[in-house]
Amino acid sequence: MNEIGLIGLAVMGQNLALNIARKGYSVSVFNRTSEKTKEFLEERVKNEKIEGYHDIKSFVESLKKPRKIILMVKAGKPVDDVIQELLPYLEKGDLIIDGGNSYFKDTSRRIKELKEKGILYLGMGVSGGEAGALHGPSLMPGGSIEAYEMVKDVLLKIAAQTESGPCCTYVGNDSAGHFVKMVHNGIEYAIMQAISEVYDIMRKILKFSPEEIGDVFERWNNGELNSFLMEISFKIMRYKDEETGKHLVDLILDEAEQKGTGKWTSQTALDLGIPTPSLSLAVEARSLSFFKEDRVKLSGKVKKTYPDVKLDKEKVIKDLENALLFSVFTSFSQGLWLIHEASKTFEYNIDLPEVLRIWKGGCIIRAKILDFLREILNENKENVNLLDSDKSISFLMDKLDSIRYVTNLAKEFYIPTLVLSSSLDYFLSMVEGNLPANLIQAQRDFFGAHTYRRIDKEGIFHTEWEPID
Ligand SMILES: NC(=O)c1ccc[n+]([C@@H]2O[C@H](COP(=O)([O-])OP(=O)(O)OC[C@H]3O[C@@H](n4cnc5c(N)ncnc54)[C@H](OP(=O)(O)O)[C@@H]3O)[C@@H](O)[C@H]2O)c1
Repeated sequence: MNEIGLIGLAVMGQNLALNIARKGYSVSVFNRTSEKTKEFLEERVKNEKIEGYHDIKSFVESLKKPRKIILMVKAGKPVDDVIQELLPYLEKGDLIIDGGNSYFKDTSRRIKELKEKGILYLGMGVSGGEAGALHGPSLMPGGSIEAYEMVKDVLLKIAAQTESGPCCTYVGNDSAGHFVKMVHNGIEYAIMQAISEVYDIMRKILKFSPEEIGDVFERWNNGELNSFLMEISFKIMRYKDEETGKHLVDLILDEAEQKGTGKWTSQTALDLGIPTPSLSLAVEARSLSFFKEDRVKLSGKVKKTYPDVKLDKEKVIKDLENALLFSVFTSFSQGLWLIHEASKTFEYNIDLPEVLRIWKGGCIIRAKILDFLREILNENKENVNLLDSDKSISFLMDKLDSIRYVTNLAKEFYIPTLVLSSSLDYFLSMVEGNLPANLIQAQRDFFGAHTYRRIDKEGIFHTEWEPID
């Protein structure tokens, strides 16, 4: 009898199964396409105690009771399909853990449906890609605490380990785990886009080669910007295509794909009324990138006259570093605010500093700055978007001139900076006591009698702005 079952032997499932087995647990695995199970056992399993099954019944029967089954299958309908296949063989008290990038509302529904059948369910965000899954991912499990307790020991062991502890915690009730993973991905989209915008400026304005940009990125990675995304970016810059000998990044088509988590983050933020402009514009940037043909066609129709300026390259590089730090900070600020609001609305009971702690290792957005963000949040847990602190204001104000300069410079050279600019605008909006929303209210009242409130007296007002007949 094996201790853990795992279904879905694609990239993530294979590596997670090996990780679990290497921590001393016996694992049963199953994959819809049997061939993959065979290949996995033959090619990757060495001394690990992993057994493959080719039908779901014998897979379930191979597990110790109460059974603990991790799903690493494609998000969406496949998760429901697998649950339906499992159900006839499961018993009350068994536990299913969905480790995929499931939509949090699907997870809430599944938790409810399975609870009625006496089956426990955890929705667990897993971040770190294939290397993370193998060597230690960041795990974000949510659901009932009873379900978490059943697998806590395994999860804590297989998670990435940092000086602040294992990158796994009980995130909260219901779909809290998948919600936090979704926002993690939203922040990931924003940081990836911000890095790409900075790269674009170095490439097109400073005329740097990928090699030179790699050197700058590596330098930044040794400082405050130290992070997984910075690290892979400098490695990408230096990577040469075997076939052509050219830098591979220059040969990659500029159409960014997406699987949905970034879009869900923005949609949810809009639903909950929390401003996440940088996260949303990162999704928009990917959508814009997809219109390659139109972009190429239109670029030929626009005459671009570039300013004749002599730039101090070292200064621009310092400004770019500051601008990126500004954008990374404000992207986390927006994401954490959204998680906090969701925690209240859906009664998840999420501990935000704990979320930052489990993002410190294993995951794609792991970064040195997380310690600083935790420090700010730990000083005042009500400071949910991190902005209400002298430390954050001074951090951002130190970089304000840089991000202003960088975004203006980019515009002079016709370079779009959706995330960098929106990070700046988010901050400027949040520190502005008077926004022009008064005019919007007046317009709404003018054409739709939507009413408005005044700053000089209490009440709800409507004005006949002009006679309608
Ligand atoms: N890749 C990453 O870096 C990453 C990182 C974090 C989280 N995730 C999430 O982790 C999950 C697994 O990701 P992945 O990249 O390893 O694989 P994937 O490409 O998302 O999914 C492939 C797996 O799903 C199975 N599957 C698809 N439809 C099925 C169905 N109707 N019934 C049963 N099984 C079905 C496939 O089985 P067959 O072999 O039979 O087709 C295969 O095992 C996904 O939710 C993904 O979003 C991925």
